[in-house]
Amino acid sequence: MTTLAGSAPSETQASSGSGCFYWNGTRSAPPGWHSSGRIDGNGLVFDGLPLPAESMDQLYVGPAIGEIDGWNLASVFEEFRRILRQDGLIRIAAWDLDAALAARERGDRSFFWEQDCTIERAFEAQILGYGSARSLFNAARVTEHLQQAGFTSITERSPHQTDDPTGRLAEPDSLGDYCCFVEARNPSGWPLASDRQDPSGVHLTLADRHGRRLNVVWSAPARTEWSLRCRPESTTEWVDYPVRSWPTSDGPNGNHVFSGRTPELESGRRYDYEIVQAGPDPQPVSGSFAAPPQPGSATVRLAFLADTGLVGRDDGLSDGTLAVLGEVTRLEPDLILGGGDYAYRSSDDRRLTPQQAVNSWLDQMSPVLSRIPFVAQYGNHEVELGERYRDWSTHFPEIDPVIDDSPPSVSCRSYSIDIGPCHVVAFYAPTAAIDPAEVSWLWNDLAAARSAGARWVIVFQHQPLVAHGRSHPAEKSVDHALAQVLEANGVDLHLSAHDQNYERTYPVRWRDGAPEAMTTEQSIYRRGQGTVLAKISPAGKRSDRGKDFSKLPDRLDPVVAAASDSGHHFGCITASGNELVIEARRLGRGGSQTETIDRVVIRR
Ligand SMILES: [Fe+2]
Repeated sequence: MTTLAGSAPSETQASSGSGCFYWNGTRSAPPGWHSSGRIDGNGLVFDGLPLPAESMDQLYVGPAIGEIDGWNLASVFEEFRRILRQDGLIRIAAWDLDAALAARERGDRSFFWEQDCTIERAFEAQILGYGSARSLFNAARVTEHLQQAGFTSITERSPHQTDDPTGRLAEPDSLGDYCCFVEARNPSGWPLASDRQDPSGVHLTLADRHGRRLNVVWSAPARTEWSLRCRPESTTEWVDYPVRSWPTSDGPNGNHVFSGRTPELESGRRYDYEIVQAGPDPQPVSGSFAAPPQPGSATVRLAFLADTGLVGRDDGLSDGTLAVLGEVTRLEPDLILGGGDYAYRSSDDRRLTPQQAVNSWLDQMSPVLSRIPFVAQYGNHEVELGERYRDWSTHFPEIDPVIDDSPPSVSCRSYSIDIGPCHVVAFYAPTAAIDPAEVSWLWNDLAAARSAGARWVIVFQHQPLVAHGRSHPAEKSVDHALAQVLEANGVDLHLSAHDQNYERTYPVRWRDGAPEAMTTEQSIYRRGQGTVLAKISPAGKRSDRGKDFSKLPDRLDPVVAAASDSGHHFGCITASGNELVIEARRLGRGGSQTETIDRVVIRR
């Protein structure tokens, strides 16, 4: 029975332990303070602070808080509360709009940083932080955010006045005339996601990029010991395999993620597994799976789903989720590709913390994902709006470079797998701000795949290149970032989601920055004609915007060959040596009337 303590493979190194933490964007921390390596406002929004829950006694937040968009402040203040222990003290020093207004009112030019201009210009430059400000504060606004995040004992302070009896928390105060200062206490510990003792959210992921081994992953209390045992189906002898564990953003007291790795699998063969807790009366949790088709296998079947939501939402928007899961289960794909936007915590207030949302989604998906490996990529709802990349990625162990035969995607969140006759890229594009480093990685990855003779190349991501729905029309930045790399490397199929309807293009190439159809044949293409772009969404949850599917205009761009905005959709991709078949399946409201609405064949 072996449980190896470890940290999440993707987790950022954190400073930890009790003490005082300082965050002020990219500004340096005063000597002796814990800091996070200068995380800017975007880093705070998307990645949070690399600290365990309840790990700090005090937290000083400087004026860089004004550099965060207003609609992300709630999750940022929640993050501040997460890292503070119970009764811990937070001090916010924010540029004070009221002070600037008062100085302007009394004509006090000496108040403003800009002197060689009119007072109106100086006022404007100051409150806009020379263009860096995205939110404006005064003491009342800071108080409002602290209240909403659940802080108590909220008190406006003067410069260097603090409730900290040592006075240390006010030491970083500077520019006191320009700032408002507000302190508050964290009234309670961080609410942990689960106190379940049994393994929850059991799911399968690939342990290497060829699917030779799988990870069996689950959540369970931190101080428990588990093993994974596995055997080929219809055999009798179990073999035990070691299990690693690591904490989530809930910290050391929250449930940990456990992951056991199977032995090398025989392509296509079925296996049984059991998750077994150490102790006198183990109650194994059992499951089974089929080993993924390895490179060179004749065929592979993939399902693609995204925009799922959690079942049972108060607003009724997730009315297709269970039906989609049932259909995908019946399909029995070799792998499920996940295009992001899974739990929608921001519009589903049943889940109080990010980990509660993640755990609920994994529990919901476990009947499927404990049998079929999941290849995860993330949407905007996994990196903002109250959820962060770290909240999700810690449940999906990175592909192990040690047993891999290619270099890992260092510092990138994209990765690729070779499965059957397909090279499949899970590309990190949760928002329209595509990271150039990810694009650079994609160039190298696709070029290597073509050189290695991949028969079919598929890229999937959250953000679409072509989308015309009312909820989330495509942003040109996505097309601009990716068109060239997709075309130059002969990508056969690009899958996306985000805009809650179905749109599929003819094979396209790009001319003068715009996609152009290379044929108007409806459904049978030759490989190399261009890239087919298929946006297949939603797999269960209608849009928060408009509370419906994303409505398409009457006239679509001529590159669109097929479209549907009247149901939930998921994709089924079947690849063989000579054909790549893409099917879009639609379920009506409430999951009724399953039908194949579009079928495309690309032939070699
Ligand atoms: Fe989205």
